[in-house]
Amino acid sequence: MSNAVQDSALETLLLPVFEGRVAWPSDGALFLNARDGWPLHRQPLPGLVAEQGFKPAFDALQRSGINLLDEADDRRFPLVLLLPPRQRSEARALYARALSRLTDGGVVLACQANDEGAKSAEADLAKLIGPLTVMSKNKCRVFWSQPGNAVNAALVDEWRDLDAVRPIADGRFLSRPGVFAWDRIDVASKLLAESLPGDLRGRAADLGAGYGYLSAELLSRCAGITSLDCFEADARALALCRRNLDAESKRLPIACHWHDVTSGLPGRYDVIVCNPPFHAQVGAERPDIGRRFIEVAADALNPGGRLWLVANRHLPYELALNTGFDAVNTITQQSGFKIIEAVRSRKAGGR
Ligand SMILES: C[S@@+](CC[C@H](N)C(=O)[O-])C[C@H]1O[C@@H](n2cnc3c(N)ncnc32)[C@H](O)[C@@H]1O
Repeated sequence: MSNAVQDSALETLLLPVFEGRVAWPSDGALFLNARDGWPLHRQPLPGLVAEQGFKPAFDALQRSGINLLDEADDRRFPLVLLLPPRQRSEARALYARALSRLTDGGVVLACQANDEGAKSAEADLAKLIGPLTVMSKNKCRVFWSQPGNAVNAALVDEWRDLDAVRPIADGRFLSRPGVFAWDRIDVASKLLAESLPGDLRGRAADLGAGYGYLSAELLSRCAGITSLDCFEADARALALCRRNLDAESKRLPIACHWHDVTSGLPGRYDVIVCNPPFHAQVGAERPDIGRRFIEVAADALNPGGRLWLVANRHLPYELALNTGFDAVNTITQQSGFKIIEAVRSRKAGGR
């Protein structure tokens, strides 16, 4: 699948380095919430180490030869670059972590797109480390400083745990800022859960499992499910999913996979449930991702296997559904969403 989307924030992040306004340190630099793209390859960036918890972005960095941060590597760096996430509590906690990784006299360099909240991101960093140097380009703001003694240590302490794990939904699930619909049960997923028929049975998978809501509902509504594989790209969501399904995992085999679903699935299933993503990390709506999830589900289902899917009503998934499945039924349309059951032929190799 093509991911050739222009990444203006990444391009702008590196501008101060390319223009010689921020010196690339000989001891290397740490890049938090890193993404791959041509700016990382335009000139040598010796000692660059990247961290990324979203599997497709992690895989892209790895494929292009960027060194990825080892869990055991607790070094401090003279330059920490970051692309703050959109969710503000998560971004504030990431700033606090960036500072904890900075050597004395080191530089923090961050960039965000204007339409993703660049002004707030800049203001937040300034609260932590004082006045910043700022450049505005490519509809993004890039800002940096060598904070030295200007760090507001009390605020760093406060922000460090802003994205901590906590109970939501009256204590039924654990979640944290930054994961999909982190502080609630997503309305589309709830509609899908309420539509699931009790007779779904056999080996099941949840594609894009998030913190595990849909999986938990599938297990509580369908007693005939014999095993469950949860596939999720966001490492933090997956860790929550594992914890949220812990009690169920004593009853049946449950495996949680840090996995890019668009790359295909390693197993075969009788049931797949899915509320597919329709955005990538960067840029506008991406219905191609949802279509790819549907193709992957069709390929991974056994003859007679059933996909239960929820989608925004306007998303064009019909062709992918009709190509991959032998029977496609719209079960309901409500509140801007459609619930679809798609069934594979009972004949082996159906498609
Ligand atoms: C619409 S959310 C659904 C979350 C969850 N199933 C729920 O019901 O609340 C889609 C999920 O897919 C994940 N995701 C996005 N791209 C993915 C990919 N390529 N492979 C696997 N998961 C992905 C997102 O991190 C997100 O958790």
